[in-house]
Amino acid sequence: MPRQSLVGKQVLVTAGPTREPIDPVRFISNRSSGRMGYAIAEAAVSLGARTTLISGPTSLTPPGGVEFVSIESTHELYTAVEERFLTCDCLIMAAAPADFAVRDVAGQKIKKSQGSPRLELVPNVDILHTMGGRRRKDQVLIGFALETESGVANARKKLTEKNLDLIVLNNPHEQGAGFDHDTNRVTLIRSEGDPEEWPLQSKQEISRRLLEIVATLF
Ligand code: CTP
Repeated sequence: MPRQSLVGKQVLVTAGPTREPIDPVRFISNRSSGRMGYAIAEAAVSLGARTTLISGPTSLTPPGGVEFVSIESTHELYTAVEERFLTCDCLIMAAAPADFAVRDVAGQKIKKSQGSPRLELVPNVDILHTMGGRRRKDQVLIGFALETESGVANARKKLTEKNLDLIVLNNPHEQGAGFDHDTNRVTLIRSEGDPEEWPLQSKQEISRRLLEIVATLF
């Protein structure tokens, strides 16, 4: 058995972007590559957890040993998480769900001859916030925060508001970190204690360390 084991635990990991349709051929999305979430799922498997990876569209191959669930929109991601939340021991939301959806999705392709379309956006559910409100004490909830300014303060606010055990802060402006990189520089924030700044390292290494911490939280 590994030193820090997750044997017997059910870990739910979300990864990648979501897509919000505009019409049958167009969507709104974001730059998430899914790499962080896939590396986390891989680390969970290697520590012995039963692992489910729920992912938006990415170019990655799911790691061996995971139950893989494919979703597109934030609403689909919400449904997939909700179905599995009660039975999971740990939820790690590494996905970048779109915060807004298009109110009236066109049934047919919008033609440019119709003029510039006006898209009205409506807010999507905040999945982590909802699950944070329903969590049991014996569950571990981990979020990610992507901030371009006042990182630690904003991430702490999310940690409290979403009722999390831990939040992993990323800054997309850091060199070698964030979207589409194999490396990342993160700051770990818990409800108590000082923020922990981790050096630039591979997403695999970060995931391994993070999952070892998760194992100590049970
Ligand atoms: N998240 C979520 N549901 C959403 C949006 C975000 O569960 N609709 C989760 C993300 O997976 C992440 C955390 O919430 O773990 C923080 O996401 P982030 O985009 O940094 O923050 P938001 O809460 O969306 O706030 P803002 O975009 O205003 O910074």
